[in-house]
Amino acid sequence: MAEVNLQEIHDTLLSIAFEAGRMILGANPNDVSTGTKLNSVDIVTETDQAVERMISTRLKTTYPTFAFVGEETYVAGETRVTDAPTFIVDPIDGTTNFIHGFPNACVSLGFAVGRVPSVGVVYNPFQDLLFTGIRGHGSFVQRNASLAEGAAGRGPKQRLPLAGRGSGAAAPPLTGLGAALVAVEWGSSRDGPNFEVKARTFERLAASREAGGSMVHSLRSLGSAALNLCACAAGQVDAYWEGGCYAWDVCAGWCILAEAGGFVASGNPGEWEPAIDSRVYLAVRGAPSGQRELVEEFWAVIGDGRMDYQH
Ligand code: IPD
Ligand code: CA
Repeated sequence: MAEVNLQEIHDTLLSIAFEAGRMILGANPNDVSTGTKLNSVDIVTETDQAVERMISTRLKTTYPTFAFVGEETYVAGETRVTDAPTFIVDPIDGTTNFIHGFPNACVSLGFAVGRVPSVGVVYNPFQDLLFTGIRGHGSFVQRNASLAEGAAGRGPKQRLPLAGRGSGAAAPPLTGLGAALVAVEWGSSRDGPNFEVKARTFERLAASREAGGSMVHSLRSLGSAALNLCACAAGQVDAYWEGGCYAWDVCAGWCILAEAGGFVASGNPGEWEPAIDSRVYLAVRGAPSGQRELVEEFWAVIGDGRMDYQH
């Protein structure tokens, strides 16, 4: 097996992310041809497909022995994430935002070894906002990221989490759901048992204590699993819960979150170390205390509901 140099892979993914960003910005979502997959809200555009072709061509040329899993070439029941070094890629995460011109979409480039997210590059070209992480070497955010090196205006790289939410102090402890800002997503399944678990959990999270709820500070949906995970890595949300997304939605953001002191538990109660392709996730931000307690409190809210998605 070829030697794995994570820094070199990170540098390659960065260059690809900027090229993908130019392609995404160059596409007019009003003109691109659009199709659907599972249903009318599971949308794919010709830009998603063109960007993935560019990414896979570049990666297969540079790293011909490494495996590649991409959203647009995934075949249900056939494509698997194995232990081999694998690029796990979503050409546009946040396609719904992309077609609506809502500026929260990104290219999500992950690399896993032994099914462990080991490099993550998440780039939102609409905001020129870059998140990166390398296993064992920390994770970072950079604004104005694509400006030429040294050019005036290029933002500094800031280590994640953004300490004290930007105040320069240490990341605060987690003190429970009642003080939490929580990211969630409706996803594309809009009926059946999974949908019921989600809708019921959203209601319980939001409801007042008097009404039997957790009364979280609020719920947020960035419309991109990768950007939700990066917001969690930054400490901008305290937790992110979702069922239904895939390995390519989470691989890059997972690495970035883990390097910022956070972790991903299962979105179903009881499992602390979910597989990368388990499709149900609960991410928690870095904090000096209260992480496991927050997960247990969240699992109690879900109760005996379980989400179960086909692979
Ligand atoms: C979707 C986004 C969304 C999440 C869905 C994903 P896509 O990815 O990450 O936030 O709720 O589960 O499928 O379709 O924009 O690549
Ligand atoms: Ca996608």
